[in-house]
Amino acid sequence: MGSWCSSGNRHVATEGGIPKAMTFQQRHLLDIESLTVDELTTVFDLADRFLEISERPIKKVPTLRGRTVVNLFMEPSTRTRVSFEVAEKRLSADSVNISASGSSTSKGETLLDTVRNIEAMNPQILVVRHGEAGAPHFIADRVDAAVINAGDGAHAHPTQALLDCATMRRALGSIRGREVAIVGDIAHSRVARSNMVALSKLGARVRVSGPRTMLPPHLEDFGVEIVDSLPQALEGVDVVMMLRIQAERLGNKCLFASTREYARTFGLTNATLELTKPEAIVMHPGPINRGVEMAPEVADGPRSVILNQVTYGVAVRMAVLYLLAGSPPVE
Ligand code: CP
Repeated sequence: MGSWCSSGNRHVATEGGIPKAMTFQQRHLLDIESLTVDELTTVFDLADRFLEISERPIKKVPTLRGRTVVNLFMEPSTRTRVSFEVAEKRLSADSVNISASGSSTSKGETLLDTVRNIEAMNPQILVVRHGEAGAPHFIADRVDAAVINAGDGAHAHPTQALLDCATMRRALGSIRGREVAIVGDIAHSRVARSNMVALSKLGARVRVSGPRTMLPPHLEDFGVEIVDSLPQALEGVDVVMMLRIQAERLGNKCLFASTREYARTFGLTNATLELTKPEAIVMHPGPINRGVEMAPEVADGPRSVILNQVTYGVAVRMAVLYLLAGSPPVE
């Protein structure tokens, strides 16, 4: 029987607690570019529903019982890996975790051979993090299982952008017309790339800023405004998204004078936060380098929604797993 539940300041028609008229035509989740605005909205509406399950005393539904999900993490991760595993367990899927150091890739096995062997065990979904841009696409072209990109090189991190947008929508009520500043190492950030695409699709106005050496070429193609200084980026915005310097992707390159100089020029403090709207929220995908891109008092302050992002991450990943598993009934 149909019912109405509140989602932020909107009302969504539901059936059995799941939003009606869900739109999601994807076989894999590899990037944000492939998703329509309706598909983005479907994920957010569904995540609101799954957030409620995560708040129950017994945080488990049998929705993905009998389905197998393999989490193949070839690069380090805390938030993404744990939240996928928690999401899978809350949906009663059988989840299996593989990391680079514990797998036979450390003995020289190729990624393709590894994936073919995993595929032979008939999982429904593969969640893939890899240091090489395009690795999840490469796998998706060669397996029957649905593939979720959990971050590939500096290319894309679609579930991070989905959870960031879902957190913004929940905190602010809407995304269209909002001013969002993304600050830091844009060139090496898959989070920045996926968020620029998602926020532009959803009608936000995005400003990006960072050291010139950390801004990639053709950034304007994302439909964002490039500003030189942190104060210009922060002036009057609704959302500040601070990014970590991706040291693991810099190699021997030296793109800024010193960490101290970077913190002085692009680090968010309570003083610079004053330039934003009074109700502006502060976001960070994690892990944070406290005292570099963000002062500890900002990370832990009243405007920070950083841990809300992590909480929403589980709900968003439950939604994505559910949609890629063919939207089975929820009990
Ligand atoms: N935000 C994010 O991807 O964090 P992890 O690297 O810890 O997964």
